Amino acid sequence: MFIRTAGENDLAAVSRLLAATWHATYDPIYGEAGVSQLSDRWHSVDWLRQMLRRPKSEFIVADTGSGLAGMAYAVINDKRPEIVELHELDVLPAMQGRGVGGLLLEEIQGSFFDCRMMRLEVEEKNNGAIAFYEAGGFVRTGSRKATQWVDATILTLEKQLA
Ligand SMILES: CC(C)(COP(=O)(O)OP(=O)(O)OC[C@H]1O[C@@H](n2cnc3c(N)ncnc32)[C@H](O)[C@@H]1OP(=O)(O)O)[C@@H](O)C(=O)NCCC(=O)NCCS
Repeated sequence: MFIRTAGENDLAAVSRLLAATWHATYDPIYGEAGVSQLSDRWHSVDWLRQMLRRPKSEFIVADTGSGLAGMAYAVINDKRPEIVELHELDVLPAMQGRGVGGLLLEEIQGSFFDCRMMRLEVEEKNNGAIAFYEAGGFVRTGSRKATQWVDATILTLEKQLA
């Protein structure tokens, strides 16, 4: 298993990984049709390509040598450059609980030397992810109702970076 920067050639595999992981995680919360709607938009190769090209971002994958086990994506906040926002961190269901998420989180946390804080948002019913982030030193700092797409409450978690 190695962690490396994603490239254009990874995007189709990342798209499949995200769709599979989101269905496994969010179908019980939002329903299969709702997740398909989200995934069709936010996990399309076109959208991932825009993410990859965005300045001040880091797009990484966990590569087993024969395929991708996970991915993570973070970007520096436009208005507050001391904050880096973790937008995605997903590990294939079959590979979860084996340290892959921890490796991705460690790598992406270390990628933004000038940032003092990492911030992320997580669905409040996603207990596994919340436990994962809290084990990694994140603390809850707020919550909001999702404004679009789904009826959900979203928690904000933050961690001070060294
Ligand atoms: C959340 C996620 C990224 C964690 O990745 P992972 O590879 O499964 O996590 P790791 O094996 O590296 O776990 C590291 C630590 O986190 C904690 N942890 C991880 N998953 C947990 C769970 N389901 N319940 C409780 N604690 C958990 C544990 O303390 C674990 O350490 P341990 O194995 O020594 O006990 C992964 O489960 C995932 O992709 N989930 C679905 C997508 C998702 O929810 N992404 C986050 C959206 S904001």
